[in-house]
Amino acid sequence: MNVLLIGSGGREHAIAWKLAQSDNLEKLYIAPGNPGTARCGENIPIADDDVEKLVEFAAQKHVTLAIVGPEDPLAAGAVDAFEAAGIKAFGPTAEAAKLEADKAFSKHLMRSSAISTAEARVFDRFPDAKAYIASRDEAVVVKAAGLAKGKGVFVCDDPSDGILAAEKIMLDRIFGDAGDTIVVEDKLLGEEASILAFVDGRNIYVMESSQDHKPIGDGDTGPNTGGMGAYSPAPVVTEKLMDQISREILVPIVDGMNRNGTPYKGVLYAGLMITAGGPRVLEFNVRFGDPETQPVLMRLKSDLLEVCMAVCDGTLDNVTLKWDPRPAVCVVVASGGYPGDYEKGKKISGLDRAARAEDVMVFHAGTRIDNGDLVTSGGRVLGVTALGSDIADAKNRAYGAVDMIKFDGAYCRRDIAHRAIRKNTK
Ligand code: AMP
Ligand code: GLY
Repeated sequence: MNVLLIGSGGREHAIAWKLAQSDNLEKLYIAPGNPGTARCGENIPIADDDVEKLVEFAAQKHVTLAIVGPEDPLAAGAVDAFEAAGIKAFGPTAEAAKLEADKAFSKHLMRSSAISTAEARVFDRFPDAKAYIASRDEAVVVKAAGLAKGKGVFVCDDPSDGILAAEKIMLDRIFGDAGDTIVVEDKLLGEEASILAFVDGRNIYVMESSQDHKPIGDGDTGPNTGGMGAYSPAPVVTEKLMDQISREILVPIVDGMNRNGTPYKGVLYAGLMITAGGPRVLEFNVRFGDPETQPVLMRLKSDLLEVCMAVCDGTLDNVTLKWDPRPAVCVVVASGGYPGDYEKGKKISGLDRAARAEDVMVFHAGTRIDNGDLVTSGGRVLGVTALGSDIADAKNRAYGAVDMIKFDGAYCRRDIAHRAIRKNTK
């Protein structure tokens, strides 16, 4: 069958790479894709949010299934538009995508579904938010309610920083309309984990656990980024904890979405804090995580296309997912300066050699071809991902490959997977 994948990040390269292994795939189109996805199928120069053109293209090329990677087109109704044109689409409808795109909606649904999350208040007027934050003397977390590319969250140990954050979001409007409403919540302590699950409206199939590294600096210092690396599985998520997460978080939210009249289909991503009192939800995302998808899909042995079709057909109960027991580590190589300003157009070398290393995949994110050369074109440039006999071996292989890749200003964290390695050597 013909498939159209939408997006252009490292996540989409990993999805495209996995789809290309399917016997059921005839032709894979990626819109707009990147130089990595171009090796798995045909890139099509249509922007990921140009829903009308995407649907027109899919109809013309007899696409059976559209897979929507990023949150923006999901929130804009891409799935609704494909389905209206009679094309199967993997991902939630715009109404269901509010689980990520509207943090006030998400909090409300968590509360009515009795799901553990941080205590929170929602504000749409700055003076009210300011008065509330000023009345507290502990740390607060201030979040823009709308989509802000993973950068709309401020963890403030001091309430005065919380007021500044609310001011930037609501008065300076640094995230535009996404900051019309804010959520102010308690700070949770613990270790984070990402749980991704396939959901077909009714059935839930949980994938192997993973952990992201959001801050730019080693030891989790500095500002948050889209994610500087990830690994799978995350030893903090024991089998017992995974059962609890399914029972107390995933099942109730999928039920809650049905009760709300917004049934959920696609990948459901629970961003969790594993606190001393058990798992608590930091956020739900309505898509594959980036960079978690890179190590998770590297370990998936089953046919991803078959799973995506089962999600769309409501037949996930007929599918079995097989996993490579070996752990995988993904190290993101970024442009110097990211997540602040950075330069683009830096020539990248050493990539072919790195990609030839055993059990290593170099997933492209912010790259493009310029006069035949591969150059940088974004903040997060590459996701160098390796399987290993254990987590330390996977990490060494990933960094071995990272060290072969060169471009001006290249930056990566050197401590990806440190928590898992510490746990294993305890
Ligand atoms: P979110 O986009 O809501 O997942 O937030 C981004 C990041 O901010 C999370 O991955 C956490 O590192 C941090 N964060 C968000 N909410 C909280 C919270 N209530 N307590 C502590 N950290 C948080
Ligand atoms: N890795 C975080 C995200 O995908 O939102």
